[in-house]
Amino acid sequence: MNLDPELYGTKIIPFVNVKTFLQETLPQLEFSRDYEEEVVLDAGCGTGGTTFHLVLPLFPQLENLYAIDALPNMIHNAEICNSHPMIEYSVADIEKWPTVKKWECQITKLVSIYCLQWLKDAKKGFRNIYRLLKPGGKAAICFPTQSIFYEAMKEMENNSKWRSYYKEVGEYISDAHLNKRNDSYYEQMVKEIGFEIVYLNEVSANDAFSSDEAYKNFFSSICVVLPHVPVNKKEEFKNELFEEMIKLGGRANDGLPIHKSTVIHLDTGDYLPDSHVNKRNASYYEQMIKEVGFEILHLKEESTADVFSSEEVYKNLYSSICVVLSHIPVNKREEFKNELFEEMIKLGGSSSDGLPVHRSIAIELVIRKNEQ
Ligand SMILES: C[S@@+](CC[C@H](N)C(=O)[O-])C[C@H]1O[C@@H](n2cnc3c(N)ncnc32)[C@H](O)[C@@H]1O
Repeated sequence: MNLDPELYGTKIIPFVNVKTFLQETLPQLEFSRDYEEEVVLDAGCGTGGTTFHLVLPLFPQLENLYAIDALPNMIHNAEICNSHPMIEYSVADIEKWPTVKKWECQITKLVSIYCLQWLKDAKKGFRNIYRLLKPGGKAAICFPTQSIFYEAMKEMENNSKWRSYYKEVGEYISDAHLNKRNDSYYEQMVKEIGFEIVYLNEVSANDAFSSDEAYKNFFSSICVVLPHVPVNKKEEFKNELFEEMIKLGGRANDGLPIHKSTVIHLDTGDYLPDSHVNKRNASYYEQMIKEVGFEILHLKEESTADVFSSEEVYKNLYSSICVVLSHIPVNKREEFKNELFEEMIKLGGSSSDGLPVHRSIAIELVIRKNEQ
């Protein structure tokens, strides 16, 4: 792999779908909560623009943000152009365990943007991510599976003018693109490793770039064939790659070039509250509240069996608090709501008059702030 950090640029990755994932989807999923001290790792940070401008602001309570890349020249540029006291850049390869082992079980949140498509063995990468995470830790990952970039590259390989330079590179198409991997392929892979999936979405992305220049530079920077093209032919190669991609992706109404791709957006981790996952009981909260300084006037732990007035009310209430629902495509939401309802009925049952019952353990609490 030989990528060009100069052409790549040092700003945020120029894909609208990535911005949406980091700035809208993850906050909606409560990927980070402002009361948690986070130790974050950004895998495949490139020149650090995304790390600095989009990943760092996700975490209000940050202890450390480690940002790694397999290429020393990427890290070099990141340190110069996107340095920040909370970000520690270093060269490490997410596919090679000895290079990342020092963070084993320490990472509370791992982010990886447009990196995993580069891996020879994606499962190895996911397994390493799992080993890096602290129990209960989460990973937010996004990478393209299909891209017109690879189609344009294949087209150019057919041209005898360029074919010989391809021979020096070997396989240049990602496994995901070559083998048409889809979301269920990755779903199965990450579940086998032991992850729980909070959110998985396969997005058809039409990302418009800010200019022809930005588009051409970005794709030239990640084109592994370009370093093998003689200097006096590089401009011609870049222009042809650009033209091929425009043929496939087209332009927006305002003339800006579009990159068409399929992208996986993935959030793994726990979507259940800490109280449920860790089976917190009354004495846990008693101690916590006393430590804060409150006086406890009433504390009761109760097993409840609440009968709802109708199936509709029951279904609506639990759909309204289900954080996954807003990420289900509109045409599948009713099916999701019905299945959630059926699962809950299996567990909670119905009353003698056929009304749905919700069973839970609840804490009742009345506390007073001390006088002094
Ligand atoms: C398309 S860039 C994305 C960079 C950055 N995340 C961003 O949003 O701009 C992909 C980066 O992943 C890095 N990379 C590829 N394979 C890697 C690996 N096995 N371990 C760490 N970094 C890797 C590449 O060097 C490159 O800088």
